[in-house]
Amino acid sequence: MATAQVSAPEKIAGYRTFTLGAFNFARDEYFVTITWPAKGKRSSHTMSADAFLRATMRDVAWNFFYGLVNFDAVFGTRNLYGKVELFAGRYNEAIHKSGLSYVETFDSGEAMAKFKEILADWVNAGFDPFAAPSETGNTAFGEKNGNNMAAIERFRVATKRMPGLEGDSPLREDLKVNRAFADVGQEEPEIQAEPGFEKELHAFNLFKYLSRSDVTWNPSVTSVCKRSLFCPTTEEYILPIIHGNDRVEWFVQLSDEITWDVADRETGRPRARLTMKAGDVAAMPADIRHQGYSKKRSMLLVWENATADLPQRYERGELKPWPVDF
Ligand code: PHB
Ligand code: FE
Repeated sequence: MATAQVSAPEKIAGYRTFTLGAFNFARDEYFVTITWPAKGKRSSHTMSADAFLRATMRDVAWNFFYGLVNFDAVFGTRNLYGKVELFAGRYNEAIHKSGLSYVETFDSGEAMAKFKEILADWVNAGFDPFAAPSETGNTAFGEKNGNNMAAIERFRVATKRMPGLEGDSPLREDLKVNRAFADVGQEEPEIQAEPGFEKELHAFNLFKYLSRSDVTWNPSVTSVCKRSLFCPTTEEYILPIIHGNDRVEWFVQLSDEITWDVADRETGRPRARLTMKAGDVAAMPADIRHQGYSKKRSMLLVWENATADLPQRYERGELKPWPVDF
């Protein structure tokens, strides 16, 4: 008789533990602990449960994003577009140099399914991994208490050209203006199209649109022009991931202020710290990692280049990691 292949999942504080390849994930009231094989033993790393869940949520919502998604200085994912690497310590100079890092590659679908299972079990009722801390409180912590499937399965806006165009994504009229943006004008522009061009000419109030975003640190596409994607977002508290770019991305600070820590992508050695105020524009090079801090909810335009072979062109040295020479 075949014995059961999977023993009943071990539970801590009501939470299931999970394995993916040789990685093990466990959570308790406050923390998530990840273990992996290293030098014939198992190494472990602990991070705050809320930070882990916020990062996992981004990886799931963004389908592993561009390049590296560092959950913190130790654990994260690297998108190989179809496959994904999970790593522990690989981009942490000290851990990697001491031979204790570990990388395992998965089909993206398999890793995605596991991350979704983790979120379904570990996100408590009331905790929204996309919300600012002041809007979701301390609900991430404590013993297992229900779930929040509505928050983690939020409909992902898939804009084809521009929100508000016929047959395209909606203009958030049904969402309320966020408390931080009560002063943002809500007038829409007047559009006067030549007859025959009514479905081609379009405009909308981007500030109004962003003032009604109910999530933080979650860029959504608002204009598609070939491979050029405008992905504005509203930001409050800390970007839940440290993003390791595999291409250049541009930031336009549309309101308020964000401070960015910029470090070497490979080692994590600090490179720069910059504070962007409304109107400032910056290019994040293709060989860095970065994390932002926004004291007051702010509006940021992230400009992405979705050209498929960019990571390879940077790796081959065909393109410089910065976009312009002055
Ligand atoms: C980024 O990694 O560039 C990024 C991600 C999410 C944001 C803003 C910037 O909300
Ligand atoms: Fe980035």
